[in-house]
Amino acid sequence: MKLLVVSDPHWAGPAEQVRRGYESRAIPHPLQRALAAAWRRGFWLADPLAHNDKLERIIALNPAPDLVVANGDYSVDSAFVGLADDACCDSAERCLAALRGAYGERLLAVAGDHELGKHSLFGGVGGPRFESWRRLGSRLSIPAWWQRDLGRYRLISVPSTLVALPAFEAELLPDEAPAWWAERRRVLAEIAAAVASVEVDRRIVLFCHDPTALPFLESLPEVRAKLPRWEATIIGHLHSPAIAGLARLLAGMPPIRGLGSTVRRYSSALHRARAWEAFRVRLCPSPTGAQALKDGGWLTADWDPESPEPIPWRHHRLPW
Ligand SMILES: [Fe+2]
Repeated sequence: MKLLVVSDPHWAGPAEQVRRGYESRAIPHPLQRALAAAWRRGFWLADPLAHNDKLERIIALNPAPDLVVANGDYSVDSAFVGLADDACCDSAERCLAALRGAYGERLLAVAGDHELGKHSLFGGVGGPRFESWRRLGSRLSIPAWWQRDLGRYRLISVPSTLVALPAFEAELLPDEAPAWWAERRRVLAEIAAAVASVEVDRRIVLFCHDPTALPFLESLPEVRAKLPRWEATIIGHLHSPAIAGLARLLAGMPPIRGLGSTVRRYSSALHRARAWEAFRVRLCPSPTGAQALKDGGWLTADWDPESPEPIPWRHHRLPW
């Protein structure tokens, strides 16, 4: 069978298209604004609103997969609060309509961090909103998590922001925090039960948008017990294989405090990134990858789910 994985398409619908410059407007300090602009133009992605064609090209190049996993981040999230923002929700709906239009029931979708919201780079604007969590199901029809047995494998998805909620604690609205924590307890209990129920001769493939969630998953005894059965964890979020490589090099670094919530969250995630090894992490890049390297694309696996051989993942590069 042929499995296709796409991640981080960051579709920009018309209501987000008119917000060009949204990121710098959210950064009050001129020096930080200049730094963020240099990072964007020099390395990350100069114009995040200009890449809808990339997903369309990936779909055209992959007309007949048997199963497709979309690993999160369907909009630009230009208000930093996820789907609670109508413009972001509209972008995500359009993005998923393109994917579902092409693949129908063969598509399994995962929640990314930008579906739920998170602080802007440096600016500290926005954050996860509980309405975004509600809209994940009601507007995008993405379940909190899912599982699918396939031959000798069980595919499982998790909502990375909810699992990694302690890392987002400072970004929650205080009056919404109890609802988030209750939801996290409920969903983690379901995921723990699902992992515990995996038969001993079955291998696990996890889809988890943001690897920040992995050390929190590892703290579940049900997950730790099954790590020897872990075939792979497909992450997104990092967009570029070069960034994923750098993150591996920096694994274990001390957390950086005093430079804002985003730097603290990323450095704390890297501090605990040694856990990635046990989960056999593999990045599905964004369609663009980094602007400077243009190293994006998609993943496929042509494999027999009944075979004991390792899954032969392939990264396809999308030139632009
Ligand atoms: Fe992303």
